[in-house]
Amino acid sequence: MNKRADFPADLRRSAFWMPYTANRQFKAAPRLLVRAEGMHYWTADGRQVLDGQAGLWCVNAGHCRPKIVAAVQKQVAEMDFAPTFNMGHPIAFEFAERLAAIAPERFSRVFFTNSGSESADTALKIALAYHRARGEGQRIRLIGRERGYHGVNFGGMAVGGIPANRKAFGPGVAGVDHIRHTHDLQRNSFSKGQPQHGAEFADDLERVCTLHDPSTIAAVIVEPVAGSAGVLVPPQGYLQRLREICSKHGILLIFDEVITGFGRLGQPFASQRFGVMPDLFTVAKGMTNGTVPMGAVFAKDSIYDAFMDAPEGIELFHGYTYSGHPLACAAGIATLDTYADEGLLTRTQSLEKHFEDCLHALKGSRHVVDIRNCGLMGAVELEPRPGAPGKRAYEAFLKIFEAGVLIRWTGDILAFSPPLIVEKAQIERIFDTIREALKTVQ
Ligand SMILES: Cc1ncc(COP(=O)(O)O)c(C=O)c1O
Repeated sequence: MNKRADFPADLRRSAFWMPYTANRQFKAAPRLLVRAEGMHYWTADGRQVLDGQAGLWCVNAGHCRPKIVAAVQKQVAEMDFAPTFNMGHPIAFEFAERLAAIAPERFSRVFFTNSGSESADTALKIALAYHRARGEGQRIRLIGRERGYHGVNFGGMAVGGIPANRKAFGPGVAGVDHIRHTHDLQRNSFSKGQPQHGAEFADDLERVCTLHDPSTIAAVIVEPVAGSAGVLVPPQGYLQRLREICSKHGILLIFDEVITGFGRLGQPFASQRFGVMPDLFTVAKGMTNGTVPMGAVFAKDSIYDAFMDAPEGIELFHGYTYSGHPLACAAGIATLDTYADEGLLTRTQSLEKHFEDCLHALKGSRHVVDIRNCGLMGAVELEPRPGAPGKRAYEAFLKIFEAGVLIRWTGDILAFSPPLIVEKAQIERIFDTIREALKTVQ
């Protein structure tokens, strides 16, 4: 028996204020994970659980991979921490090079953060400072999208578009506006891959440009595929159109690739899959396989160069104590090695069709009003229970977990993102479990 299973019997008075969790509900009936390996977790009571959400969209190579574990162990014994403000350590430079090597062409600069939230705020700040460095300091507006998620810090929250994440926290950052989301259940329900209708939703950016004057807008930030809002796949032509409008008005386009980065869509990054290049993009999660917290912003050379044209001195007054933390860099390099050894950054291509077939076979299951997918991201949207939004999906999530599969629920949506090492039989198991659970959810 794993010793760590000896948790206090009653967590209701626990000191741990849990994030994004109904604390009272959870602590009254906890679900504790104590061990992980490959595609599986083990619970405190010894049950094996198949991981259908890659931890939290992050463990792309599966759990406790030997190379990553060994690299972190070695690094922590060799040098636990060293600053990157006015000092450096080789491993941070090495990791940045390795990242640039898999990035799209001309994205050869990497700014390290510690999370997706910090990456979003860093990218927004770089965009503002970039325009100012070029003499366009009037570009102070930031545009997000309804149903977008860019983490929980003030910048990311402000451009984010999920109402519950915003409503308790005041006006946030000034000068922010949003374009409409891309979800169109009426025209696009049960689409496989990119939906056919909705490229014109990108034109909403023209409306916002007219309203504010485009020369006041610094950047537009979107997730190539919205994850947290329930896997909203961009309609065909939508991202291309958004790119065109940004270019026309001199607005920077930021892709938030915190979920889509590192192979989730069958290419290292979503920009490569969709053939649309942003000006900046953010990553986190799969960057270190979730092993040590880390994030980053990739910048186009031209953006970095604009800062380097300034007189000698600190070019960007921004950074975190733990930017380029040695343990995170060690984990990240070993993660990239593992991805390369096993071809994981493109493995999704060989699994996507099977994933799609198994997922869409849930059509006709009770309560299901939509199914959507892209790469190894998928979602099933349930009809909300009248007067109790989110309850039905939560109950489904519990039943699916009891049956030995971990998935994500958000609102009335069940979301799936297995590690990229998943086998076809495991994909079948995930969706068979969901089918059975949905039969019993009222
Ligand atoms: C697209 C996107 N951006 C940012 C974040 C925030 O990342 P973190 O929780 O590491 O701050 C997330 C987290 O799920 C995300 O999905």
